Amino acid sequence: MSLPKQPEVNIGMVGHVDHGKTTLTKAITGKWTDTHSEEMRRGITIKLGYADAAFYKCKDVEPPSCYVSNPSKCPNGADLLRVVSFVDAPGHETLMATMLSGAAIMNGALLVIAANQKCPQPQTKEHLMALDIVGVKKIIIVQNKIDLVDDDRARENYREIKEFVKGTVAEDAPIIPVSAHHDANIDVLIEAIEQHIPTPKFDPSKPPRLYIARSFDVNKPGTRPKDLVGGVIGGSLIQGKFKVGDEIEILPGFYILKGNKVEWEPIHTEIVSLMSGGKYWDEIKPGGLVGIGTKLDPAITKNDGLIGRMAGKPGTLPPVLTNITMDVHLLERVVGSREERKVEKIKTNELLMLNIGTLATVGIVTSGRDDTVELKLKYPAVAEKGQRVAIGRRIENRWRLIGYGIIK
Ligand code: GTP
Ligand code: MG
Ligand code: MG
Repeated sequence: MSLPKQPEVNIGMVGHVDHGKTTLTKAITGKWTDTHSEEMRRGITIKLGYADAAFYKCKDVEPPSCYVSNPSKCPNGADLLRVVSFVDAPGHETLMATMLSGAAIMNGALLVIAANQKCPQPQTKEHLMALDIVGVKKIIIVQNKIDLVDDDRARENYREIKEFVKGTVAEDAPIIPVSAHHDANIDVLIEAIEQHIPTPKFDPSKPPRLYIARSFDVNKPGTRPKDLVGGVIGGSLIQGKFKVGDEIEILPGFYILKGNKVEWEPIHTEIVSLMSGGKYWDEIKPGGLVGIGTKLDPAITKNDGLIGRMAGKPGTLPPVLTNITMDVHLLERVVGSREERKVEKIKTNELLMLNIGTLATVGIVTSGRDDTVELKLKYPAVAEKGQRVAIGRRIENRWRLIGYGIIK
């Protein structure tokens, strides 16, 4: 599929497992994002899914029916409103770190809540908390599976949602009932997205920064050496712009073992192609997922080898940090499990999971006193002072969100 323009905003699909995020992504974009064999076998989303849609307004049709993502539905033609990109997160409780990586590139989010279950379910709460921690403020609540409930239950569920969001970032979020499975009310949802999730302001003077969310070797096995193309990185620009021909630096780069010491080497390469929304571009701005063709050896980029790194113009990226000091803000309770428990203080020598941008890494606490914590990271982060870090702790064999830190 190719789109009329580059996507200009990233919208997350978040919420509890099986509440219908991937089905809703399909209803809006036409694309089924659970494509990995394990996802199909287990029926759950495991990796982040990406899909784009162009929103149109049909001419001579009243709202909300005029809002469509397929203009061939319009009797008298249509005007393009916006091209948007969806980041479909997994809802399974074991995949919080993946959801948080996705949240790093979301400008807004749809919190999907199934009407046939009591609200809130554990990951309904944990994902909303994650959005709050990462700073995703433009939220729409989608009350899904409305076809499975009667009017009374739909109203009761609406009240549960209202009660749940009271006092949170989503307190005033619109609540849109839909049936993703039957494509019902999707026009109303598109209208709500147009009204409540604006395109972020673009400042072309800022240096480009790309969060790398995946990377690949696109060569088919058996390709002759002269036909091989360089490694491809996929991610989202959070600021600035990239052009074909730009020199780029990727930090922290790749590691080499010197004796038993790990050293990180920055990677330098050139942009040979830019793909977004199914099309090639000479230049790209923030919004949507972009695939960047490079001159790198595909062995470096294959199998998501560069996931969690950052790319930009040489010499302009934030520092590479192996040790970080943070001011921490812990939640009162761990919300992601059925049984909620108090969050204990962080202790020296404990292992924590940190999400810094799209990077998820464990770190060992080298000093934990009061509200300041120092950690040594397994994978170095490319991060600035003042940046927010989501903190997870292993509780009953699962990484649970316990709070956030601000890098000092
Ligand atoms: P994870 O990514 O694993 O968290 O799940 P998900 O939120 O992406 O849910 P998914 O879209 O995979 O849907 C889960 C199940 O709910 C599937 O069997 C869907 O067919 C079903 N489903 C989703 N939306 C609806 C709906 O609106 N109505 C009905 N009846 N079923 C739905
Ligand atoms: Mg899914
Ligand atoms: Mg599923």
